[in-house]
Amino acid sequence: MNKYREQFSLDPQVAYLNHGSFGAVPNVVAAAQREFQLLEESNPNLFFRTTLPKLHDEARAFVAEWLSTSPELFAFVPNASQGVITAASSLVTKPRSQIVATSLGYGGVLNGLAEIARRSQSSLRIAEIEFTAGVQTADDIADSVFAALTNETSLVVLDQITSETALMLPIEQIVRTIRRVSPNAFVVIDAAHTPGMLTPALPADFDVWVGNFHKWICAPRASAGLVCRTPKIANLITPLAPSWDFEAGFPKSFLSQGTDDYSSYLATPHAIKFHESVSFSERDTHNRGVIDDASKMLHEYWGTEPDVPTEMFCPWMRLVRLPIRKQLTKSQCDALTLKVSQELKTETVILSPGDATYVRLSAQIYNELSDYEKLKSVPDLAKEL
Ligand SMILES: Cc1ncc(COP(=O)(O)O)c(C=O)c1O
Repeated sequence: MNKYREQFSLDPQVAYLNHGSFGAVPNVVAAAQREFQLLEESNPNLFFRTTLPKLHDEARAFVAEWLSTSPELFAFVPNASQGVITAASSLVTKPRSQIVATSLGYGGVLNGLAEIARRSQSSLRIAEIEFTAGVQTADDIADSVFAALTNETSLVVLDQITSETALMLPIEQIVRTIRRVSPNAFVVIDAAHTPGMLTPALPADFDVWVGNFHKWICAPRASAGLVCRTPKIANLITPLAPSWDFEAGFPKSFLSQGTDDYSSYLATPHAIKFHESVSFSERDTHNRGVIDDASKMLHEYWGTEPDVPTEMFCPWMRLVRLPIRKQLTKSQCDALTLKVSQELKTETVILSPGDATYVRLSAQIYNELSDYEKLKSVPDLAKEL
């Protein structure tokens, strides 16, 4: 077992290979969260009226500085889904607006955008990005987004790292195209996977960026951040549920969203400190090495090949094609994911984007190549479906 594994309370019988969906929380970070909860329980009235606003501001200032932005441009939100939909509903206010997103976007976010479009009598255009042989270069992806843009486009939502397919989109190239073709469009970056994995986390140009801390930074759930690039954009962003201090504007309007457990936000600076207790280069080298070796091992064992160039994948996640003739349906993928969990004691996710079926691997500091060994028998389990 590697030396980091014991710093997490993960079940020692289980190979945890799906940090990409649900990140594990280190014991010291969970303990820091518990401290905040105990403080809250010692005097809830004092905590909510006096202590929480101060602690919330301190946590916000810490995280904003870590992201190299100003606390005036940063608010905590529960998760990437709510953050992106918050930004989109604030920015799409006029009827007949045109929203653009990509076919590799996160399903929940695409549902939210479709509903915002419906409510505002606007339209949602999907830039089709093929996952398999179609996607070979960053230019192919940028061209697909370009084809969906018009000078009527008012909002573009782009993933920095795509969810199911773990691809890194060429954000800076795409945003340059958007600024040229659709100069009135706002750009919202869904950076659910970015904090911790990519540095710097914020791209050079965007209007609103939303990143999860409860994935690769290992903060307790739920914790994410919404960053506005300028005070002018911040003036436009309102919470999904307008509440206390609404009139004070961003970010104060986001601080008190009713009685809730805010300890995950308060513990996020502790997660960042834990994350930084291992240097970025050590973690990055470890995680990249594990994901490269594990993919190579499975590709060789299964006799399959990578479908898209390896460098298009994000550094710490990868899709490896299964050697099965027929593509599995969504419900077969879910059934196989559960079988792998129960029979192989391995947590991963089986997906069917494009025209084949894959296992999506994640690698975090607590993983080792041997964790991925049992996956070799996934094709045998698939035969039993
Ligand atoms: C690109 C992207 N957006 C949004 C989400 C949703 O994240 P959350 O469940 O934290 O809202 C994910 C989750 O994996 C994702 O990959």
